[in-house]
Amino acid sequence: MKFFLDTAIVDEIRKANEFGILDGVTTNPSLVYKSGRPFKDVLTDICKIVDGPVSAEVTTLTAAEMVKQGLELAKIHKNIVVKLPMTEEGVKACKQLSGKGVKINATLIFSASQALVMAKAGASYVSPFIGRLDDISEDGMCLIDDIREIFDNYDIKSEILAASIRHPMHIVECAKAGADIATMPYTVFQQLFKHPLTDVGLKKFMDDWDKAKK
Ligand code: G3P
Repeated sequence: MKFFLDTAIVDEIRKANEFGILDGVTTNPSLVYKSGRPFKDVLTDICKIVDGPVSAEVTTLTAAEMVKQGLELAKIHKNIVVKLPMTEEGVKACKQLSGKGVKINATLIFSASQALVMAKAGASYVSPFIGRLDDISEDGMCLIDDIREIFDNYDIKSEILAASIRHPMHIVECAKAGADIATMPYTVFQQLFKHPLTDVGLKKFMDDWDKAKK
């Protein structure tokens, strides 16, 4: 499973990238706002750090505007993936942009039918928001299972990009369910490394090694 970071904070991306296991980045308008920096500057910096897909979301609502903005975003760097919302206009824009060779990440996916529609419209990635489903007492992981089953039934090549990740168990469950990618906040990325027994075990090894040397 590929690991993406879901952030527009360049410092977090730089730190995560140092481990050599980061495969890409996703951003959204809320994350860009949180970064406090101009959208284009953030994207340019991210593309310099990470050699993988970088999702940049359109901020327009009609298909014509989305296509225009998507083409502009795609010009920033070869790794830019244009993120389109799951709306009727977004589907039309997806068909048009993917036809022009622009990679699309379909965002705000909350049902398997939405994922299927966007895959048929040529999306390279579909992004089910599992945390937001869990937040309203639905089962986000069931959605990953359903999309995986449907895509496997028809050999659909669109990648399942699990988004709205809240904690490390979401990553584990996504991996078990066969999501192709999980995009996560930096805090969750850090949590993936941790187990208290690792810390306790390492301390004991080091203490015993000190004693063995005496
Ligand atoms: O970037 C899309 C998604 O990952 C947002 O997550 O935490 O705002 O539900 P969240």
